[in-house]
Amino acid sequence: MVSTRVAILTVSDTASTDATADKSGPTIRDIVSGHACVVQSSTIVPDDKDKIAEVVKGWCASGKVDWIITTGGTGFGVRDVTPEAVGPLIERPAPGLVHLMLATSLKHTAMAALSRPVAGTIGNTLITTLPGSVRAVKENLDALFQSGVVFHAIELVQ
Ligand code: MTE
Repeated sequence: MVSTRVAILTVSDTASTDATADKSGPTIRDIVSGHACVVQSSTIVPDDKDKIAEVVKGWCASGKVDWIITTGGTGFGVRDVTPEAVGPLIERPAPGLVHLMLATSLKHTAMAALSRPVAGTIGNTLITTLPGSVRAVKENLDALFQSGVVFHAIELVQ
């Protein structure tokens, strides 16, 4: 079986100045590595629309990434701009994946309603935007991995 090539983008003002503060990026790495994924690349950017978009565009153009997972910046805070940065780059939105993440998350906490995830494809790359906490990352990845949903999506995009 060919490994899914994943890139992880942590969006956080704090972690961008102190990488040791990034707990969710390494959590994603651990979880996806246990699901036949290989982490091709990972980086941290501040909550900055242009910086987020630049990294995402670069990974998509590289042709080396099947699935981009972002974490952080999806909330209602004034600095939270991940959906605004990623949304315009998405060529084919995946509202079903957004629904799946929110529906599963809401079973854990009503606070999930405070996340504004976007998902979809950019060329042959799938992108999903997860909230910033470790707990939210685990719950959202559980949602995406259930029944092999995310792998089937990635297969269809190739
Ligand atoms: N989703 C799940 N599954 N579990 C959580 O604990 N936390 C919520 C929400 N989504 C949470 C969740 C909270 S408290 C916030 S503020 C939003 O995600 C936005 O998080 P972000 O701004 O770090 O992306």
